[in-house]
Amino acid sequence: MRAHSSSETKPETKPETKPLTVLVTGASGGIGRAIATLLATQGYRLLLQGRDAKRLEQLRISLPGDADHRILVADLLNPAARRTLVQTCRDEMGGVDVLINNAGVSTFALLSDTSDEELGRILGTNLLAPMALTRDLIPLLQESKRAAVINIGSAFGHIGHPGFSVYGASKSGLHGFTEALRRELGDTGLRVHYLAPRAVDTALNTDAVNGLNRSLGNKSDSPERVAQACLRLLEGAASQRRFIGWPERLFIKVNALFPAVVDSALAKKLPVIREYAQQNFPDLKGDTP
Ligand SMILES: NC(=O)c1ccc[n+]([C@@H]2O[C@H](COP(=O)([O-])OP(=O)(O)OC[C@H]3O[C@@H](n4cnc5c(N)ncnc54)[C@H](OP(=O)(O)O)[C@@H]3O)[C@@H](O)[C@H]2O)c1
Repeated sequence: MRAHSSSETKPETKPETKPLTVLVTGASGGIGRAIATLLATQGYRLLLQGRDAKRLEQLRISLPGDADHRILVADLLNPAARRTLVQTCRDEMGGVDVLINNAGVSTFALLSDTSDEELGRILGTNLLAPMALTRDLIPLLQESKRAAVINIGSAFGHIGHPGFSVYGASKSGLHGFTEALRRELGDTGLRVHYLAPRAVDTALNTDAVNGLNRSLGNKSDSPERVAQACLRLLEGAASQRRFIGWPERLFIKVNALFPAVVDSALAKKLPVIREYAQQNFPDLKGDTP
């Protein structure tokens, strides 16, 4: 068992016989914090990645066993920074058992309002970076008997939603990547999981997104619910694909089998979606037919 120091304000650490080392990308964000907090409470040892040193350090010192965890500031869009992350796992953490590809960015905009730079930022962060990081960490992960990758997707990767075409494409791509890699590594011990939340209460969602969700009656979850689902994946023996939330899980199935049903349901909501999607682009309002 790993010895953890804990202060009065920190949650109790559950004893673990063999703590795993987990790299959590986007640890400074809403879901990343919740995952880090839950895993630290369970005795996992964490490498916390993000771009904001202050937020990462505040998180680290709030965790049980804070001295065992490390932070690493790295922009995942930068290949050199990704290499540093891999080196840190190898040279300073002594290896890594689990990679949680959680860092992500979103945009709520009509495609016509989306610049090339924005396309690159969304696809680069949500798809290219997790693919490259996973590839570069596979040799280290394969040294672990309990190795796993968890890719954080989104319900919007499975239900094409107006206003989220670029974000949805990035998460659809991440799902395709996860599925293929799971099969590619099927005869190894490396588990490859996919976890797709619906809306979650974090800073990722702008006022326009929150307004749209309220207007359409879309439910959202706490980051802690996503963290619990993540922990269950880690504790499971086999690779899994999990979707969070009802009725979203049903909609995803209906969309796969009968997409025309979802086409017509979303067509009715299109004027409201357009209104909210153009909130950040007031000059363009009214240009869309
Ligand atoms: N919130 C939702 O409604 C929702 C729903 C479904 C899926 N998800 C997915 O859940 C994951 C976490 O989202 P969240 O809601 O926790 O968002 P968040 O609070 O905005 O956190 C995003 C995290 O990603 C990091 N990040 C972004 N770009 C980065 C880059 N280029 N390099 C390194 N780190 C970067 C951020 O770091 P900095 O602090 O340095 O910016 C931050 O730690 C994402 O993959 C998201 O797509 C979210």
